[in-house]
Amino acid sequence: MDLIPVGPGFGAEVHSTSLIDIATSDRSYQETRAALEEHSVLVFRDQEVTDDVQAVFSRAFGPLERVKVGSVGAGSFYNRLHNVASDDTLVAPIHRQALTARANQLWHTDSSFKAVPALASVLSARISPRDGGETELVSTRQAWDRLPSMMQGRLRDAIVTHAYAHSRDQIDPGLMTPAERAALPPVRWRMTWRNPVNGRVALYIASHAYAIDGMGEQEAEELLARVIADATRPQYVYRHRWRQGDVLMWDNRATMHRGRMWPGDQARSMVRTTISATDADGLADVRPANGTSDTSERQIQEEAQQ
Ligand code: OGA
Ligand code: MN
Repeated sequence: MDLIPVGPGFGAEVHSTSLIDIATSDRSYQETRAALEEHSVLVFRDQEVTDDVQAVFSRAFGPLERVKVGSVGAGSFYNRLHNVASDDTLVAPIHRQALTARANQLWHTDSSFKAVPALASVLSARISPRDGGETELVSTRQAWDRLPSMMQGRLRDAIVTHAYAHSRDQIDPGLMTPAERAALPPVRWRMTWRNPVNGRVALYIASHAYAIDGMGEQEAEELLARVIADATRPQYVYRHRWRQGDVLMWDNRATMHRGRMWPGDQARSMVRTTISATDADGLADVRPANGTSDTSERQIQEEAQQ
């Protein structure tokens, strides 16, 4: 397997292999998994992607998340992010799918607001717009390493609250349905996630994060905004310009990402599959010492048995 670095100190393009080869050959899988642990972002080119191929590939890495209530694809493995309506016309800028795209343009890590966070996400472009619509990623390991040691000491074990409502309400308070609000209460996580393979520490923050235990509301919001602003300075960003056949995989434990805008009169259609974190992925490490989520273990077991 050939790896070619693509980003500013993280990210690698994986050559001479297909998603199905990786899913079906233990050796290929182990090499790809090691590359993900090391590089945090993997780019696969010239793939023939279908929903099934994407799910089989993703499932090799762990149990798949089911898409949450209120998202396109709810209950399935496929999170469909697109501005195409069911009659094939493009949706208006105030349409729910367009607002969702805007919310995805905030820097975030997937599923930090869920009872079981995500190990990794796999995103494929089924239709790319001619202009814009890139996906940008940063390494939150590098962001951690750049913090002064005093800050690291202060933040390493800080407990942060994440809520889906926090990021969605910034875009439009009407975006979340009552069913989503009921299904997605706030969750609390340690602010750092230590990689169980190489021991590297990454900041675990996102647009969903808002409160920090023992800190005033405003102080916490300012601190999070400052840390996210530093993590995402332009020189630290890998910008992925989508080509036909591209598949992108990122480690949600060690990166943040966002989508970029594109003209509303151009179609964009993406499909994401998401792999749940298990204790072996360092989940126990990130879970706050108090207030543990007793459902997460059970949910992982259930997914694993499907
Ligand atoms: C996602 C996401 C950004 C994009 O799929 O999780 O944030 O560029 N996508 O579509
Ligand atoms: Mn995302």
